[in-house]
Amino acid sequence: MSTGSSAAAPNDLAAYWMPFTANRAFKAAPRMIARAKDMHYFTPEGRAVLDGVAGLWCCNAGHQRDEIVAAIQAQASELDFAPPFQFGHPKAFALATRIADLAPGDLDHVFFTNSGSEAVDTALKIALAFHNIRGEGARQRLIGRERGYHGVGFGGISVGGIVSNRKFFGGLLTGVDHLPHTYDRAHQGFSRGEPEWGAHLADELERIVALHDASTIAAVIIEPMAGSTGVLPPPKGYLQRLRAICDRHGILLIFDEVISGFGRLGFAFAAERYGVLPDMICFAKGVTSGTVPMGGVLVRKGLHDTFMRGPDHAIELFHGYTYSAHPLACAAGLATLDLYARENLFARALGLEDTFGDALQALADLPHVLDIRTIGLVAAIDLAPIEGSPGLRGFKAVDHAFHKADILLRATGDTLVATPPLIISQAQIGELAEKMAAVIRAVA
Ligand SMILES: Cc1ncc(COP(=O)(O)O)c(C=O)c1O
Repeated sequence: MSTGSSAAAPNDLAAYWMPFTANRAFKAAPRMIARAKDMHYFTPEGRAVLDGVAGLWCCNAGHQRDEIVAAIQAQASELDFAPPFQFGHPKAFALATRIADLAPGDLDHVFFTNSGSEAVDTALKIALAFHNIRGEGARQRLIGRERGYHGVGFGGISVGGIVSNRKFFGGLLTGVDHLPHTYDRAHQGFSRGEPEWGAHLADELERIVALHDASTIAAVIIEPMAGSTGVLPPPKGYLQRLRAICDRHGILLIFDEVISGFGRLGFAFAAERYGVLPDMICFAKGVTSGTVPMGGVLVRKGLHDTFMRGPDHAIELFHGYTYSAHPLACAAGLATLDLYARENLFARALGLEDTFGDALQALADLPHVLDIRTIGLVAAIDLAPIEGSPGLRGFKAVDHAFHKADILLRATGDTLVATPPLIISQAQIGELAEKMAAVIRAVA
């Protein structure tokens, strides 16, 4: 058997400790993916599986798109690596400019990372350093939100609000507080788009300010739409209210748009959909349509310019990664943004929002469905947990989906999530909903 071909099924699964995976269950019945094209994955045996989640919320342009593949191939044969500290390569600057052009307002500068987790830690560090160099070094507190996911770095899990991601890892960052999450089934059940109820929850920030004093708070970080804990769209007016409170108290507002960026909600960034300008935006995933790891932080002009002082030869920010703005990632990013523009994929996603919402909300009467939330090309279906085994129904659903229903889905606990590539056709939306219905019936 050739070990070089991705289509060859490996015969030893032991060495690879898989991330965020039930390793023993997987290795007993692997869900193996060997190939992909457009809307589909293919198993090593060649069975087509509809990609219901854009890989992991990242392959927004679909899979193996010729233009992106060609750009990566060409880059690999031209420049493999260039040191990003004190040196640059042209595509890094070109891509930063393109991303800044897509972003709203004066989010004019881009600091590149390799992942969403690194983007989050970078944004938190920029926030702390910003206050420090302005002589407000007491502003060290970071405010996250319950049910927030900001990756797995120590900064990200500290401001994050997912219990299992935090409880095993010690004391985390000190000086962190959390806003309440914004979900309330009684007030928001079966919501499409932004729920009407919940804007007042932003006022909880005033309570936190009153407790700690604004002079100790550096930044608030939230996902405009919380994704990983089961899709919690922002209540109408919530983000505007949070922005106003941050402004009142000199607190920076960071949007973590690692999954909401690059078209998922029908716009380049959710900030645009909501007309709220944060001080920084964390991005990753969709920037290269998942083809090469890349993340980054968009930073507003005034914030960036505050760092541009001191002697010209002095480094302004002591932070960066060996692979920041890696040439392969930059080439992939440029080709991806070209493709998004040429196929108008963000507007396409917005245009499909109603069709997608109709198709998925129609599953409301299936067994054990407690709630369905749809927004952009995102859907979450809460299923009732199996008595005494929370998460088991969700796990079974994903497994059944892959092996029996030919669809790749994700579950967070007992919530099933669909976030297809933005190239999904109307017919494939119907197919996705039908397959999800079959899965829900199968785990009833
Ligand atoms: C909102 C958000 N932030 C950060 C991350 C972490 O990104 P990565 O897995 O690339 O580190 C994710 C990943 O899903 C995410 O959804």
